[in-house]
Amino acid sequence: MIIFTRVQELQDHLDIVQNQQKTIGFVPTMGALHEGHLALVEISKKDNDISVCSIFVNPTQFNDLSDLAKYPRTLEKDSRMLESVDCDILFAPEISEMYTEAELELKRQNVEDKGWTNGKTVDFGQLDRVMEGTQRPGHFNGVAQVVSKLFRIVRPNRAYFGQKDFQQLAIIRSMAKQLELPVEIIGCPIVREKDGLAMSSRNVRLTETERAVAPLISKTLFKVKEMKADHSIAELKAFAETELRSEPLMQLEYFEIVDAETLQPVNDYKDAKNVVACIALKLGNVRLIDNIIL
Ligand code: PAF
Repeated sequence: MIIFTRVQELQDHLDIVQNQQKTIGFVPTMGALHEGHLALVEISKKDNDISVCSIFVNPTQFNDLSDLAKYPRTLEKDSRMLESVDCDILFAPEISEMYTEAELELKRQNVEDKGWTNGKTVDFGQLDRVMEGTQRPGHFNGVAQVVSKLFRIVRPNRAYFGQKDFQQLAIIRSMAKQLELPVEIIGCPIVREKDGLAMSSRNVRLTETERAVAPLISKTLFKVKEMKADHSIAELKAFAETELRSEPLMQLEYFEIVDAETLQPVNDYKDAKNVVACIALKLGNVRLIDNIIL
């Protein structure tokens, strides 16, 4: 695996790859890798000639600076894990390679920076006004900003994202479409621990007691999927909310059943082609999300 920290050096290398008509698969991450990330690299390796993984803890998508400071940084371990699945290239830039001082100043002043659209109008419509969008103002703008920068640097044929961040996936698809970026966005299944907990870089921050109760999240989602056949959406919501609120260590932020495409809440199954149940909650100090397509 070749490790690049500089944009120019990565691009010089990828120019050669592209001139050889080889396809590039891309897995953007913020590091603290787990099996879920490795599964994305493995899918990319099957689909493409060269797979690039990036590790960059993106400051503009954090609305809580203490969350940014606490975000685990484990570059050496991550790099060994990527080697173990034969990832071809790791791109691990310093912050100065990704952002100008002016962009960082806007972030410090809490101003939403729209410079990443390169003068085009990008409007996520209602996609970023629900669920995570209401809980984490500015978060998706920061995600779209960094992912669009990464796409312009790596110029991948395909990019791979986990469906655990269902709303992020919808935003990135919309961003790539509106900016007409020539990349295929591929959503990949959620990878779970044996007890059902969705893999997340945040799981390591759970205490032993919190970790022990965390599977209630996926258990509730699996049960909701089972109940769909003979229960209304209102009944599923009431069930899930009661379950999750029954655990004193959990503070439920939302449980929503939404149209899988528009992400708007639905009241009836016939209002959408596919529906997805989404959860966000705090377990101690750790914010967790999970979802299931019903
Ligand atoms: O899902 C993530 O890890 C991040 O949001 C992403 C897509 C790498 C952008 O920083």
